[in-house]
Amino acid sequence: MTDMMAGPPVDVAMPPDAIIRIKNLKKVFGDNVVLHDVNFYCPKGRVVSVLGPSGSGKSTMLRCINLLETPTSGEIWFEDQLVNSHETDVDALRAKIGMVFQQFNLFPHLTALGNVELALKKVRKMDKEQAEHIALEQLDKVGLLDRADFLPSQLSGGQAQRVAIARALAMEPHVMLFDEATSALDPSLVRDVLDVMRDLAKSGMTMIVVTHEMMFARDVSDHVVFMRDGVVYEQGTPEKIFEHPDREGTREFLQGLIDITPGQEILQDQPDSFMTSSVHFQRKGAGMI
Ligand SMILES: Nc1ncnc2c1ncn2[C@@H]1O[C@H](COP(=O)(O)OP(=O)(O)OP(=O)(O)O)[C@@H](O)[C@H]1O
Ligand SMILES: [Mg+2]
Repeated sequence: MTDMMAGPPVDVAMPPDAIIRIKNLKKVFGDNVVLHDVNFYCPKGRVVSVLGPSGSGKSTMLRCINLLETPTSGEIWFEDQLVNSHETDVDALRAKIGMVFQQFNLFPHLTALGNVELALKKVRKMDKEQAEHIALEQLDKVGLLDRADFLPSQLSGGQAQRVAIARALAMEPHVMLFDEATSALDPSLVRDVLDVMRDLAKSGMTMIVVTHEMMFARDVSDHVVFMRDGVVYEQGTPEKIFEHPDREGTREFLQGLIDITPGQEILQDQPDSFMTSSVHFQRKGAGMI
C-alpha cells in the first residue's frame, strides 16, 4: 500500500480506497500564504501521521478538511464528496469527520456524559435514553465509565482528552482527525491517550494525526507526511521518513527532535516520552545522520 504513496506529487484522483484526498490545497490569510500546494491522501482504514515544524501549516491543513477553515483553492475530497463546495452540508460533514484538538474543547458546565451526549441529541436527534446508552458505551471504551458524572474541571488533562475522543467517536465518524491531541498534557498522562489512539487505529479507524509523538508516528502510521513551509516537503512510509529520508530538511527536522547517542537504545527509562525501546535509532545503520 505504502509504495504507491511514496513521494510527491501524488495523483489524488487515483487511489480508489482513499477516504480523504487533498489536491493542490492552498490557503491564504491576508498576504500570508500558509499552504502553498498540499497533496496527499489517506486510504480507508489507514493512519497518516503529519509531522513538521511549528508554523508549517499542519493545523490549517487539518482544519480545512472539515471546513473550520475555508480553502483558498485546490480540492479536498471526503469519500466521493468535494468538501470545499457551496453544496456541502457542514454539519453533516463534521458528523462524519471527528476532530480532536490539543485543548479538548469540552463544555465546562456539562459532565463527561453530558459532553458526549450533546451532539447525539442535537445533531443526531436521539432521545435521552438512546444518547445516554451510546455515550456510556463510548466512555467505557476510553476507560472512563466511572468518570461519567464528573465535570471537565474534575478530570485530569488525559481524562478530559479521552472524553473528547469518546465524544467524537460517539458520532460514528468515518475518519478521525487529531491535532496534537497529547501536546497539552502532562507527560505522565500522554500514554493513556496514545493507548486509546493506538486501539482506535487497530480497530480499523481511518486517522490523520498531527503529532510530535515520533514513536507513535513511527509505530502506528502507515504513511508519514512531513510538512514544511506550507508544502508537503516529503512523504512516505514511516521506515523511509525516519530511517532514510530523501531530503536534507526532513533529516534536519528529525535530528532536532531526536537526540541520538551512537549505538544506544534511547530513553528507555522514559516510557511516556516519544521514544520507547521498540525502535532503536542509531547513528550507524538507521541512516539518520
Ligand atoms: N486564522 C488565522 N489568521 C491568520 N494567520 C493564521 C491563522 N491561522 C494560522 N495562521 C498562520 O498560519 C501559519 C501556520 O499555522 P498553523 O497553526 O497551521 O501551523 P502548525 O504547523 O499547526 O504549527 P504548530 O506546530 O505550532 O501547531 C502560521 O504562520 C499562523 O500564524
Ligand atoms: Mg498546529
